[in-house]
Amino acid sequence: MTVEKNVSLKSHNTFGIDAKATSYCNISTVEELKSILKKQHQNPFFILGGGSNMLLTKDIEALVLHINLKGIKVVNETDDKVVIQAMAGENWHDFVLWCLDKNYGGIENLSLIPGNVGTAPIQNIGAYGVELKDIFVSCEAINVENQTLRVFTKEDCQFDYRESVFKQKLKGKYIITSVNFELTKTNHNLHMDYGAIKEQLSASGVKKPTITDISEAVIAIRQSKLPDPKEIGNSGSFFKNPIVSKEKFEKLQENFPKVPFYKISEDSIKVPAGWLIEKAGFKGKRFNDYGVHNKQALVLVNYGSAKGKDIYNLALLIKKTIKRIFDIEIETEVNII
Ligand code: EPU
Repeated sequence: MTVEKNVSLKSHNTFGIDAKATSYCNISTVEELKSILKKQHQNPFFILGGGSNMLLTKDIEALVLHINLKGIKVVNETDDKVVIQAMAGENWHDFVLWCLDKNYGGIENLSLIPGNVGTAPIQNIGAYGVELKDIFVSCEAINVENQTLRVFTKEDCQFDYRESVFKQKLKGKYIITSVNFELTKTNHNLHMDYGAIKEQLSASGVKKPTITDISEAVIAIRQSKLPDPKEIGNSGSFFKNPIVSKEKFEKLQENFPKVPFYKISEDSIKVPAGWLIEKAGFKGKRFNDYGVHNKQALVLVNYGSAKGKDIYNLALLIKKTIKRIFDIEIETEVNII
């Protein structure tokens, strides 16, 4: 375990922002993590996972601990179901492919989401009708203060739309080291309600889809809408879709009859932030080396050497404009550092 000084984080965040870390350390075992926390926990440190959900607006004046714990194993199995433990540093999509290769179902709609296994529960990643919480069993995490290991059940995690206890009450207090998932071995419960999945499957002529067909459909949809971070820096959806009251929604619908929406409950309605941002005229707008993606307005992009601050200021401008035009507050999904 070596500590490097003055390290660029450009290749460690999917936005491709060239911020520096005062020092940086690659962690590949739980023991290394415990021992460095024991020495370090009074001094500033910063936990880095896949770097796929953050915008670095400044240098990190702390020791960056890059969680690189690896390993995937079956921990329990019946005729129909399997429980798999994946270590926090496993790349999320590689893990999805590992499961598909073994014909383990339930995770296929979450194909091609950037990031690592250990950060997936923090924001309860979700796409195309499935959220991480639907397949989550438990996770193990280290308490940064006393370095003890705690098991969190699904209930403990308090999952919600792009939310968990790790983003709220326990923010910065635990480091997730591994996650257990329950998947199906037979009789897979396919999630194809999302219109785009149905369209994609019928365009590919698939009549009786397998979990691999669904994964391939999701990959095709994502590739057609979302920029590949290897080519254009981005963090996926920059904002959360706002949830508004029925009353506010009805006012919005009066002025914009075509607004898409998803009903959450009798009194709450989710409105796609991408639609609001597009209507506000930002879709595809480019300012120097940063801007709003031209195929999905929810995604802010770095075309090369943009500064995190520039992207953050653009996000503030978008937020303010949405409030002015629609009287709706949108919140960032990405962590602003
Ligand atoms: N829309 C527009 N213009 C846009 C983007 C979207 O009008 O530029 C409209 C679409 O036409 C559609 C609606 O908004 O009617 C929803 O769009 P889409 O299906 O692309 O989904 P989204 O609500 O924009 C969410 C997630 C994505 C996830 C997709 C699919 C959030 C914040 N984002 O986006 O997650 O892939 O649904 O399930 O909930 C991510 O979190 O990084 C992410 C990409």
